[in-house]
Amino acid sequence: MKIGVVGLGYIGSVTSVALAEAGYEVVGIDIDESKVKLLSAGETPIYEPGLKEMLVKNAKKLRFSIDYNELKDINYIFVIVPTPNKDGKIYLKYVEDAIEKIKQINKNAVVIIKSTVLPGTASNLMATTGMTIISNPEFTKEGTAIEDTLKPDRVVIGGNNKNAIEEVKKIWEFTGSPIIETTNENAEMIKYASNSFLAVKVSYINEIANLCEKVSGCDVEVIAKGMGLDKRIAPYFLKAGIGFGGSCFPKDTAAFISFAKDLNEDLSIIESAVSVNRSRISRIVNLLEDKFNGKETMTRIGVLGLAFKANTDDTRESQSIKLINKLLSIGFKVNAYDPIAKVKLENISLFSSARECIENSDAIVVATEWPEFKNLEIKGKFVIDMRRMLSLNNDSNLKVVGHYG
Ligand code: UGA
Repeated sequence: MKIGVVGLGYIGSVTSVALAEAGYEVVGIDIDESKVKLLSAGETPIYEPGLKEMLVKNAKKLRFSIDYNELKDINYIFVIVPTPNKDGKIYLKYVEDAIEKIKQINKNAVVIIKSTVLPGTASNLMATTGMTIISNPEFTKEGTAIEDTLKPDRVVIGGNNKNAIEEVKKIWEFTGSPIIETTNENAEMIKYASNSFLAVKVSYINEIANLCEKVSGCDVEVIAKGMGLDKRIAPYFLKAGIGFGGSCFPKDTAAFISFAKDLNEDLSIIESAVSVNRSRISRIVNLLEDKFNGKETMTRIGVLGLAFKANTDDTRESQSIKLINKLLSIGFKVNAYDPIAKVKLENISLFSSARECIENSDAIVVATEWPEFKNLEIKGKFVIDMRRMLSLNNDSNLKVVGHYG
C-alpha cells in the first residue's frame, strides 16, 4: 500500500519514516524545497534521535517531492501541516490549502488529518470540500518521536465513513496499540484534552515545588515519587522545572481556552496552568534581581540550554528563550550554551561549551535537562538549577527547583 504525507516537519517526517519502517511505500510532499532536498539525500531537517538512521535504512520505500501530482494515485493521504496561533486563534490556512491541493489532484482520496485541529474542523472541511476526512491526532513527543509513532499508547481514529475508518485502522494495525474508533469531533477533542491535562500536571507539580522551596525538609522530587506510585496519578509529567514550552502545549492550551470562550465556557483549570507557567520566568528573574539588585548591567547570566527540553533542537516557545529576553529587557548581560539547538539571538554571547559559558558568567541558570549538565561542577557562582541536574549541597549559592533553601 502506498501512503501520502503532506507536511514534512517534525511529525510529518517522523510519520513518513515510521510508516516506511512498517513496510509502506510513502510519498512525502512539502512546499519547502530545502526540506525535500535534505530528506531525499538521506538527511533530516530536524534533530530527532534515530530518525536519520531509519530514513537511510528505508530510503527505497520513501520518496519526497514538492509536487502534489505525486499523490495522484494515492488513496490515503495524511495532512501534517502546522496549525499555529494567530491573534489567539487557531490558523487553519495551511490545512485548508493542503486539502484543496489534494482535492485538485485526487478528489477521491481519503484525507487523514494528523495536524492538531479544534473539534468541528474536520466536519466543516468535509462540508466545504466534499472530501472524506478522518481525524487521527498524534501523541508523539519530540525526542522519542520514533518509538512513540511505532508503539503509541493508543491510536485515535475519528470519522463518519466506515470504510475509510477500517482502512486507516489497517494502516496502524502494525503498532499493536489499542485503537479508539470514534467521531471526528471526539478524536479532535481527545488531543486538546490530553495535551492540556499534561500541561496542568506540569503546572501542578511546579506549584508544589514553589511550596517545597519554603518548607524546611521538603523536596518536590520525593513528593512526586510518592504521588506517582499511585496508579491513579502515575509518575509521568510530574517533574518540576522551568515550565512547559515547545510547539504544542502553549499553542494548544491557548487555542482550547479561546475555543471554550467562544462557547461561553471557561477552562479555568487550564487557564491557571498557563498562568502558573508564565510565572516560572518571573520567579527566576526575581531571584536574580534580589541577588544582583542595582548591578544588573554589570552581571553576566549564563543560561545553560536553549531547547525547550532535552534531545531536541527545537526552541519554539522555549522557556529558556523567554527567560533570556526578560533578562535582557531588565539590563542583565546574557551568555548561553546549548549542545544542539542553534538560535539567532541579538545581544547575547553564545558559547561552544558549558564550561566556557560558566567561566564567563557571574550566575548560572540550568534551563534544559541536557544529560551533559548532570553534576557539572560550578564553584563560587550563584546558580539556579531549574532542572535538578546538579548535586544538592549545602551551598547557599545553589538554588534548586522544588528544594528548600
Ligand atoms: C507534547 C505531548 O507530550 C505529545 O503527546 C503531543 O503529541 C505533542 O505535544 C504535540 O501536540 O504534538 P512535546 O511538545 O514534544 O509533546 O513535549 P513534551 O515532552 O510533552 O514536553 C512539553 C513541555 O513540558 C517541555 O517543555 C517539558 O520540559 C515540560 N515538562 C514535561 C516538564 O516540565 N515536566 C514534565 O514532567 C514533563
